[in-house]
Amino acid sequence: MTPALVQKLRCPRCRSDSPLESTFTALNREEIESGALTCTACREEYAIEEGIADLLGSHSAVVRGERAVYRGSKIQVEDRLRSLDPAARDLELRRIAFMEHTGEQFRLTSSLNLQGVLDRVSPRPGQWLIELGAGSGWLTARWAALGLHCVAVDISADLKLDLSPLVMSREGVFFDRLMADMTNLPIRTGAMDWVFVSASLHHAASLSDSLREAARVLAPEGTLVVIDQAAEETPGLHERSFTYLQWRRALRSAGVRPEFMFPAYYQAILSGTASLPVASRRFAWLAQVAWRSRLRGLLLSRPVQTAARVLLGLNVCMMARKTGDS
Ligand SMILES: C[S@@+](CC[C@H](N)C(=O)[O-])C[C@H]1O[C@@H](n2cnc3c(N)ncnc32)[C@H](O)[C@@H]1O
Ligand SMILES: [Zn+2]
Repeated sequence: MTPALVQKLRCPRCRSDSPLESTFTALNREEIESGALTCTACREEYAIEEGIADLLGSHSAVVRGERAVYRGSKIQVEDRLRSLDPAARDLELRRIAFMEHTGEQFRLTSSLNLQGVLDRVSPRPGQWLIELGAGSGWLTARWAALGLHCVAVDISADLKLDLSPLVMSREGVFFDRLMADMTNLPIRTGAMDWVFVSASLHHAASLSDSLREAARVLAPEGTLVVIDQAAEETPGLHERSFTYLQWRRALRSAGVRPEFMFPAYYQAILSGTASLPVASRRFAWLAQVAWRSRLRGLLLSRPVQTAARVLLGLNVCMMARKTGDS
């Protein structure tokens, strides 16, 4: 972790704004590889290992359950990879780091929807971004490539943050990594210019608590970006789907005003540059015909978009700014 990030942290236990003191036992260029952070208010200590600071604090049952599932997967993967030579092992870990093991659909949807947002915003080099539930940080890297100082946060390092070095070396970027719970972020109020969340808010114990935390750590002019898609349920993981109206209500109660966008993934499907999952092909040709006609404007109009979100539950793809009334 970089010393610059230490200035942005707060203790997840006492939540005071007192600084955390850092000590290190190993420093690699600008990064603290191992050491500790101590809260100057309550004296709680947090370890830094392999560049990752563990600022989880006490965990909820939901977080404990999820961490156990990820630990189990890591043990299984390590068993499977033991017989492979180092090059094949690396290749497999890289596949996991870039989510290739989840299939093309998830990667394509996330990648296109993020690009759709990036085409609409102008992040400036040197600004701070935190990604909540970042996994290996394969999408954090896209923001880091734009020159932002990025922080990937996840509750687990197992096949998540511990794979970030593979992502960073392939993408030629650096980002900070923290183990933390998005419902109790160890980040000072207003410290971030951007909060980014992809496919992870539905894991947290509470959507509104997570969004409130996201809004709290944002600077007054900061932007929250969320992309989300319906996930398959994995046993042991806490995965819930939210309706459009639930998203809206939670965003508003967190004190942010959302602007929902038509997901770039759907635009790619409608214009024929991305293919549809087999199950959805039945009616899609109708929408594709409309998209190629003058009806495109109607499809993109606000009432049709809202109706589609309410009735069909489109991918979530939105930006939000603080309203100042949370
Ligand atoms: C489906 S993965 C998404 C990973 C990545 N954002 C992406 O789009 O590929 C959900 C991630 O959320 C993390 N997560 C679950 N609950 C969390 C919490 N309370 N705080 C932070 N991260 C959490 C999980 O560990 C997991 O890495
Ligand atoms: Zn403290």
